[in-house]
Amino acid sequence: MSEKTPFTKDDITYALFDIDPAAYYQERYAYGDVVGVVANEGRVTQNTLIYQKAHYLHEALRRCLSDPGNHPVKVLEVGCGSGTFGARLKHFFPEIELFGVDMSSSCIEIAKQNGFDHAVTYDVVQGLPYADSEFDFIYTMDFFGHVEFRSKDPMIAEISRITKPGGYGFHGIESGFIDYLNCNPKNPDDTVRKYVYMEGHIGVETLEDILDRFSKHFEIVQAFPFPIRPLLNIGNILNSRFWGEEFYTAFAGIDNPTSRVAADLVTGWLNKYLTDQLLQIYGNELTQSRVADTGNPALNRFIDTLLQGCGFSMTTLRKAQA
Ligand SMILES: C[S@@+](CC[C@H](N)C(=O)[O-])C[C@H]1O[C@@H](n2cnc3c(N)ncnc32)[C@H](O)[C@@H]1O
Repeated sequence: MSEKTPFTKDDITYALFDIDPAAYYQERYAYGDVVGVVANEGRVTQNTLIYQKAHYLHEALRRCLSDPGNHPVKVLEVGCGSGTFGARLKHFFPEIELFGVDMSSSCIEIAKQNGFDHAVTYDVVQGLPYADSEFDFIYTMDFFGHVEFRSKDPMIAEISRITKPGGYGFHGIESGFIDYLNCNPKNPDDTVRKYVYMEGHIGVETLEDILDRFSKHFEIVQAFPFPIRPLLNIGNILNSRFWGEEFYTAFAGIDNPTSRVAADLVTGWLNKYLTDQLLQIYGNELTQSRVADTGNPALNRFIDTLLQGCGFSMTTLRKAQA
């Protein structure tokens, strides 16, 4: 460690890596080409691995909508970016009133074209600019991994404050173990520094740690990691090489876009199948320490591999009734 050795996760900050978040995020996730993307998506594409995130988000919102008395439903996405997920949500659930907040004004301009009824530019580390109990459903997608560890608990407390009693939450979170404490934040060749610079992932932690934070404010309705390693699609599977050389060689041969969509479709369904099976066997909280010993070492290893292989997790929450 070059200048200062951080002692706890709370010492891991953007400043330590010489990143100014406002400048870093202003244009990075401003995707002008995602406007109206839902209308252009084929049905095949909608079932690929990349849209499994949307699938589970929609399932969580359906839970909220099915509660009697929850109409009209006010929904907030914290860290909404350009509104990729909001656009889908508004397309499939046009009855919701959709709010978004993000620190990038470029993203917010695009989000407004993507179906958000209200979208504001705000650095949410300062707090959430909404009234107590304002929302029925609050979600984040690919956001908590961008929040410094020291800001996570206050952020969750804020989300809880503005969620109605009995309201729901859903969080798709980058998860896993990143060795921040042993990195050299000032060395451009350091692997963790490169990782942080790539997408801004300053605060990635395990699902176990994530649930410990949320459970102080919410009931955990369901939480699980993606059993398929890639963050999004076949390209990511190949980059991670988690499933070994044989797998890599087989899939690396796919060299045209149509076949890649087909491969993503298969991995998407496999991901969903495995998730649903694991949830049925082990219950609603699928983390390594919460999965019981099966008594069969080979089966334990297999389950462990599936849970470790995540990189991304989904958590559905409910706030207690007053
Ligand atoms: C990976 S993007 C995800 C965007 C969107 N949720 C999606 O899935 O398409 C992370 C977003 O979090 C936003 N963000 C990070 N830190 C933030 C903060 N402190 N306040 C508000 N937005 C923040 C970034 O500007 C960026 O748009």
